[in-house]
Amino acid sequence: MKKLIGAMLACLLAGGLMAAETPDFNTDTGGLKSERGITDLGSEDNPAPLKNFRKDGDAYARQYMHQPPMIPHDTRNYEVDSKVNKCLACHSFKNAAAMKAPKISPTHFETRDGVTLGEVSPRRYFCLQCHVPQVDAKPLVDNTFKPVESLN
Ligand code: HEC
Ligand code: HEC
Repeated sequence: MKKLIGAMLACLLAGGLMAAETPDFNTDTGGLKSERGITDLGSEDNPAPLKNFRKDGDAYARQYMHQPPMIPHDTRNYEVDSKVNKCLACHSFKNAAAMKAPKISPTHFETRDGVTLGEVSPRRYFCLQCHVPQVDAKPLVDNTFKPVESLN
């Protein structure tokens, strides 16, 4: 019995010690640095200034198979919500030719179960989840990525 009580006490003690060591996640980043700098997680950082996207241009080369192509034009004020999708005003099958825009590919009609719908699949509705415009800016981090040779 004495042994058992001893073991229980030890457990309680260890639990207490662990609780004391739990970091405060609001202020302690655990030594990790992010693009937010040293601003603690509980406060807002100053937003980076808006960059100037180019108004229009040729399509960007793709870097790897199945890459969502990058957007070669400005997207400011293009509304996408449950009622309107400005992107589809130019990129839908119906409007693309008249708008001289490339049309979305058939994959955009497929559900995750592989069923092809008659309209854009919900998982491809929010275009900017995958497609992003570009700016000529200094890279935030170095990287050594090289595009797939057969594509460029
Ligand atoms: C006013 C018409 C118009 C609207 C609205 C529009 N686009 Fe475009 N988009 C184009 C045209 C035209 C091109 C072809 C390249 C060019 O001329 O800029 C293009 C090119 C693209 C490409 C490159 C395709 C490729 O094969 O490289 C992507 C991706 C794209 N747009 C996504 C979007 C998204 C996402 C939105 C909504 C946020 C959007 N576009 C809204 C007209 C439009
Ligand atoms: C879940 C990611 C995802 C979303 C969301 C998405 N796309 Fe794409 N898109 C892709 C990928 C990946 C490709 C290239 C491969 C392919 O065609 O599936 C692509 C290709 C394209 C192309 C080039 C088509 C071609 O034939 O080369 C256009 C234009 C485009 N998307 C526009 C859009 C628009 C407009 C929306 C919103 C209605 C949208 N995409 C939503 C991933 C996405």
